[in-house]
Amino acid sequence: MLYSSTSQQQTKEIAHTFAKTLVGGDIVFLDGDLGAGKTTFTQGVLESFGYTEPVRSPTFSIMNIYPINRGLISKVIHLDFYRFNSPDEIRTLGLEDFLEDPKIIFLIEWPEKGTGDMSSLVPTKTIHFRTISENEREININ
Ligand SMILES: Nc1ncnc2c1ncn2[C@@H]1O[C@H](COP(=O)(O)OP(=O)(O)OP(=O)(O)O)[C@@H](O)[C@H]1O
Ligand SMILES: [Mg+2]
Repeated sequence: MLYSSTSQQQTKEIAHTFAKTLVGGDIVFLDGDLGAGKTTFTQGVLESFGYTEPVRSPTFSIMNIYPINRGLISKVIHLDFYRFNSPDEIRTLGLEDFLEDPKIIFLIEWPEKGTGDMSSLVPTKTIHFRTISENEREININ
C-alpha cells in the first residue's frame, strides 16, 4: 500500500492503521533517509498501543524498550543502528532473549547498518519512507 503524507500527524495516522496489522514477533524494518519520518511513524505505532509517554529517537541510546499492555504484545523495542560503525556492534545489545519472545515487536531504523549476511534479524515487514518535499513523504507498506 502506497501512502502520501503531508504532515507529521498524518504519518502517525498511517502508523495507527499499520499498527492494527502487527502481531507479536514482528520485526519491522524502517527504510528511508534522514528525516524521512521513521521515528515519527514509530511514535504513531506506540500511540496506537496506548503508550502515552514521550517516544524519543534512539539515535544515541540505540535501543529504547517500551512496555505495552495490548493483548499478546508486552513490549515494543525501537532500535536505530545509524551510529553503528560495524554490524558486529549489534552483539553488544544482547537481543537474543528478546528475539525469542513472541510477545515483542521490533521497529528498526537503519537496519542495514546492523545486519550482515549472517544476521538473525530477518524482517517480517518492511516500510519504505521517501522524502518528496519539505512536508510530503511517501510511505510504502508492503
Ligand atoms: N509528512 C511528514 N511526516 C513525517 N515527518 C515530517 C513530515 N513532514 C515534515 N516532517 C518532518 O520531518 C522530520 C521527520 O523526523 P523523524 O525523526 O521522524 O525522521 P527519521 O526518519 O526518524 O530520521 P533519522 O534517520 O534521522 O532518525 C520531522 O522534523 C518532521 O517534523
Ligand atoms: Mg529516527
